[in-house]
Formats: sequence, structure tokens, C-alpha cells
Amino acid sequence: MIAGLSLNTQINDIFLLKNKEFKVRRDKKTIDMFFKIADKTGEIEAINWDVSSDKVEELGKIEFARVQGHVTKKKIDGTLQATVSSLTETATLDLDYSDYLPQSKENLDELMSKIFSKINSIENYHLKNLLKSFFDDPEFAEKFKRAPAATKVHQPYIGGLAEHTIKVVAICETIGNIYKEINRDFLITMAILHDIGKIREYAYHKVIEHTDEGKLLGHIAISLEMIDRKIRSMDDFPKDLELMVKHTLLSHHGHFEFGSPRLPSILAAIALYYADELEAKVSGFINVKEENKDFNEKWSKWVWWLERSIYLDEEAILKNKINETEEE
Ligand SMILES: [Fe+2]
Ligand SMILES: [Fe+2]
Repeated sequence: MIAGLSLNTQINDIFLLKNKEFKVRRDKKTIDMFFKIADKTGEIEAINWDVSSDKVEELGKIEFARVQGHVTKKKIDGTLQATVSSLTETATLDLDYSDYLPQSKENLDELMSKIFSKINSIENYHLKNLLKSFFDDPEFAEKFKRAPAATKVHQPYIGGLAEHTIKVVAICETIGNIYKEINRDFLITMAILHDIGKIREYAYHKVIEHTDEGKLLGHIAISLEMIDRKIRSMDDFPKDLELMVKHTLLSHHGHFEFGSPRLPSILAAIALYYADELEAKVSGFINVKEENKDFNEKWSKWVWWLERSIYLDEEAILKNKINETEEE
């Protein structure tokens, strides 16, 4: 497993090959292959030096391969690099792809049962019906359980959507406790439904990536279509409630430039936007810290989506302070 590798470890295992790039050296003849080898525990850089030009096309198509070589370098940021001596394509039929995709550390069945118990707590008949029309369908529930929340930034792994959703729900419960003016049933329903379109926005069978539908429509439009279809199949869903559901869904990214065609114009919508934003940003931050855990610097590398580096000594300082207080 990738997580078990360290400097000088021998490698002889099946990995997913990612980000393949072929670079021609200055002599204009020799070609080197740069890529990443990955499994569910992580990924590292790998280099296959001097590949013959007639192999480039074939190597470029390989998804899974038995990789032999060893870890030859540990970079300043703590990441490892492997030099590969042999690369043999593996028949994908024999593989359990879930071994090669990054996974949530949470128990996904427990996350789903939390979502089911939230659905059961909804008192409003129409909202509960709407939720059940999705989650009582085992095919939908299975896709929802496994979907990632993103391809990068926050929860980009199997189970990420369920993890993100249950956290947004928890934040919304707190908001609802503080602001009694907000209808709790409606806010929780929308927290559960707000990102359901991600089950179609992303592919997460072999690799986590955008689907064509995801690239062309995005999850807000996909979710709207999914909800519209359910509501059409019910003959008693009130029209005004339907508009509120759709408005809250469409406005949950809060700004036109983040993909919302409407700005939040009802209480529950503004609350959901901030709950979602808070959850995605804090989880994204935690993700950056996780990626930098072996980086022996005070500041992380530049994080493009935050437009800043983040300070990595936080825990060490706060932990020392707590110990000092205990000793006093
Ligand atoms: Fe979203
Ligand atoms: Fe979200």
C-alpha cells in the first residue's frame, strides 16, 4: 500500500496510474515517463526513465499496472518519488476498484443511518415524502453513500458527499437552534438534498473525475432536474413549497460567480449557503493540513483555492500551551 512506503522501499504491487506525462530530453531522443502511482491510501510520484518511443502510446493508455521499482527520493515537502523498472498492464476485470480510490475515514453505513434518522425526524409530510422518494430508493442511496463531495479541495474521496452532507445538516441544526425564525424541517430537508446532483456530476467507479454531464451542467442544475422529476411524480406537492425548495437549491452557492443563478432570498436559503460554505472551507482546510503533515515548514505551499499559504504550527503551539497549563 502507498501509505506503507518509505525511502528505499522496494515496490512490487498493482497500482492505479495517474497524471501520465511523457517528456523528451534535451537530446531530442530520450523519452521519460512521469506519472503517479495510487491506491486508496494515497499516491506518490513515479518516473519511468528512458521509454522507447514506440511504447509511448501503449503506456499512455494503461490504467492499472503491476509496478516494480523502488522509492528513490524523499522531497523537502515529505513526498516520495519512485523509480520504476518495470510496468506491466493488469487486466482490469480482476480488480476491486475500491482498493484504488481514496476513501472516507468514517464508517459510511453509520453516516447513512444518521441521514436516515434525520429524515425520520422531519415532521412536515411533503418534505419527508420528498426526502423518502430519494433515499428509500436503494440504488440512489448506494450512489449517495459512495459519491465524493468534490474532485479536489473538500472531501474528494469515496463517502465524501455523505460526510459533507451530514456535517452541513449538523451545522443547520445549530443554526436552527439559535434562530427560531428559521423553519427547522425545511432547512434540514434542504441540507440533506442540496448536493444530490453530485451523484451524477462525478464518476467514482474507477477514478474520481467529472462526468460529461457534470462538466456540462454542474450539480446545481442536475439536482434541480432530479427534484423536479420527483415532485412531478407526486400529485400533491404544493406549488409554493416547490418554489421554495427549488430556490434554496439554486441559490446555495450564494453568488453568481460560484454557479448560483439566483441569490439567497429566503431565510433558510441564506442559512444553508453559509452552513455549506463553512463546512466546505473548514473541511478543505483540514484536507490541506493533512496533505502537509510531513512538510517540515511553518507555512504550507501555496493553496490555489484559498489564495494563501496556511500556518502549520497551530496544533503544536496550542498543544504546548495546554500542557503548560496542566503542569502549572
Ligand atoms: Fe453545492
Ligand atoms: Fe455542499
